[in-house]
Amino acid sequence: MSSKLHFKLSLLLILILGLSLFKVKAIGVNWGTSSSNPLPPDKVVELLKSNGITKVKLFDVEASVLEALSGSNVDVTVGIPNSMLHGLNSSFKAAKNWVHDNVTRFVSQGSGKLRIRYIAVGDEPFLQSYGNQFHPFVVGAATNIQAALYRAKLANEVQVVVPCSFDAFQSKSSLPSGGHFRSDINKTMIQLLGFLDKHHSPFFVTISPFLKYYQKENTSLGFALFRETAHPHNDSHKTYKNAFDWSYDTVVSALSAARFPQIDIVISQIGWPTDGFANATSSIAEEFMKGLIDHLNSKLGTPLRPHNPPIETYILSLLDENQRSIATGNFERHWGVFTFDGQAKYHVDFGRGSRKMVNAENVEYLTTRWCVVNNNKDLSNATARASEACSLADCTALSPGGSCFNISWPGNISYAFNSYYEQHDQRPDSCDFGGLGLITTVNPSTENCRFSVEIATSISVSLRALYLLQWMIPLVTTMFCL
Ligand SMILES: *[C@@H]1O[C@H](CO)[C@@H](O)[C@H](O)[C@H]1NC(C)=O
Ligand SMILES: *[C@@H]1O[C@H](CO)[C@@H](O)[C@H](O)[C@H]1NC(C)=O
Ligand SMILES: *[C@@H]1O[C@H](CO)[C@@H](O)[C@H](O)[C@H]1NC(C)=O
Ligand SMILES: *[C@@H]1O[C@H](CO)[C@@H](O)[C@H](O)[C@H]1NC(C)=O
Ligand SMILES: *[C@@H]1O[C@H](CO)[C@@H](O)[C@H](O)[C@H]1NC(C)=O
Ligand SMILES: *[C@@H]1O[C@H](CO)[C@@H](O)[C@H](O)[C@H]1NC(C)=O
Ligand SMILES: *[C@@H]1O[C@H](CO)[C@@H](O)[C@H](O)[C@H]1NC(C)=O
Ligand SMILES: *[C@@H]1O[C@H](CO)[C@@H](O)[C@H](O)[C@H]1NC(C)=O
Ligand SMILES: *[C@@H]1O[C@H](CO)[C@@H](O)[C@H](O)[C@H]1NC(C)=O
Repeated sequence: MSSKLHFKLSLLLILILGLSLFKVKAIGVNWGTSSSNPLPPDKVVELLKSNGITKVKLFDVEASVLEALSGSNVDVTVGIPNSMLHGLNSSFKAAKNWVHDNVTRFVSQGSGKLRIRYIAVGDEPFLQSYGNQFHPFVVGAATNIQAALYRAKLANEVQVVVPCSFDAFQSKSSLPSGGHFRSDINKTMIQLLGFLDKHHSPFFVTISPFLKYYQKENTSLGFALFRETAHPHNDSHKTYKNAFDWSYDTVVSALSAARFPQIDIVISQIGWPTDGFANATSSIAEEFMKGLIDHLNSKLGTPLRPHNPPIETYILSLLDENQRSIATGNFERHWGVFTFDGQAKYHVDFGRGSRKMVNAENVEYLTTRWCVVNNNKDLSNATARASEACSLADCTALSPGGSCFNISWPGNISYAFNSYYEQHDQRPDSCDFGGLGLITTVNPSTENCRFSVEIATSISVSLRALYLLQWMIPLVTTMFCL
């Protein structure tokens, strides 16, 4: 073989390899930790690696999470909570400390380097329900963090972004072409886009076909799920076949109206929940994900940005989180592609094609026991007790259309009691409920409704180790004395 041909062939190979890698690399996941008993970080990182997930977006900075990600070749987005924006706007020193404490420290560790790619300033600070609580500080905070990155010589590898909620957009005509920013944040958004453009950073935005469907915004299930059979919607000469393109182009129009028509877009959250609402099920979520990933991989883009799909997309979410806010709906705690304990609910092609999803292994649970209602007691106050438990624990599976909606009274009381008991690490006093609770080793789960046993978190494990130590010390001392 001539060396020239060889060279050409290698080039082709590199190109093909590059393309297939690119396909894999553009899809990541959100990894939140709003859980009473989160899956330990090293188990989560294993889960990412074994399923071919190479990008992860965090909502905060937790040392244990970043340490687990170090050396993993996973690209990381770290988050700054909204509550810190005020301080970071008013003080460059605070921003320098933040970058030193939460970025420099981790990326410059000799072995097992951490690949932080983005810093997300705020967690959807423009949400309409926040009013003007956070948005006046966003651009100032982002500017200070950016300057601190330059100071730390990290500006070439880390970019500053601001995740934007979908309710930052409106459309007078209710058509994509009429998209514009909400008027109360219009000025801030223009400043933000100027900032992003100057630093060649992408625009992070949530797209939610599920919410469009949930809020009945003229979106049929088929239109939300990329079904070929869905009735298309027209916007003058453009035809929209799915809710994703419709929402995306609303964003594109708003960016154009703000005179930043070319800015790169990253979808910071998109998903379909599997519980807490009638059409939130695993099979529908799987259909949505397949439609989404096929659409992204086709690189067709949208009517307003043909052949120019988002540069990256982050699935909401990796795991279920039993302490997420349910202000928007009971489905909020069920966005996971995996259950809270890392078991795949359905298949998603994260780049491994149709190969089987890999579950988390060797998960350590609390003891296999549950808290149920004692049927031998007077249950006249049980419903009130259960409501109290639900206000602190997680009863979203009991809501209409949820996986436990079917279990009848007093099974639903038991479900509430158990959720509270497990979230409190099975402490005996957390199964009291005025004498109505009963601890059992008989699994009360039904076919559709899982009564979970929670994960033994590091805290409860170390507590147990402490108990053990308490026993060991006198024992060892006794042995030495003998
Ligand atoms: C943000 O910080 C700057 C610089 O300290 C200050 O001038 C400005 O008033 C702050 N913005 C708000 C909304 O407080
Ligand atoms: C680093 O991030 C954590 C988590 O958000 C925060 O509590 C801490 O204050 C940050 N460090 C600094 C110096 O700002
Ligand atoms: C937003 O600001 C731009 C530039 O100042 C202006 O042209 C546009 O009309 C504003 N849009 C809204 C919805 O307020
Ligand atoms: C809903 O969508 C259909 C199909 O595109 C369209 O004819 C109708 O005008 C829309 N209704 C509203 C309220 O937007
Ligand atoms: C939408 O546009 C297509 C192509 O221009 C056309 O064939 C179809 O009839 C239109 N549908 C509606 C509901 O207007
Ligand atoms: C769920 O989807 C089916 C099929 O589209 C529909 O008939 C039903 O009304 C939906 N349920 C809810 C609560 O949206
Ligand atoms: C139910 O609660 C009320 C008010 O706390 C209390 O007076 C009553 O004794 C309770 N009933 C039973 C059967 O425990
Ligand atoms: C409710 O129960 C019926 C029959 O037992 C079953 O077919 C159905 O799937 C259940 N629904 C849910 C949401 O679990
Ligand atoms: C349990 O079911 C009963 C009867 O349907 C209902 O009144 C009660 O509110 C339910 N409790 C919970 C915690 O779902």
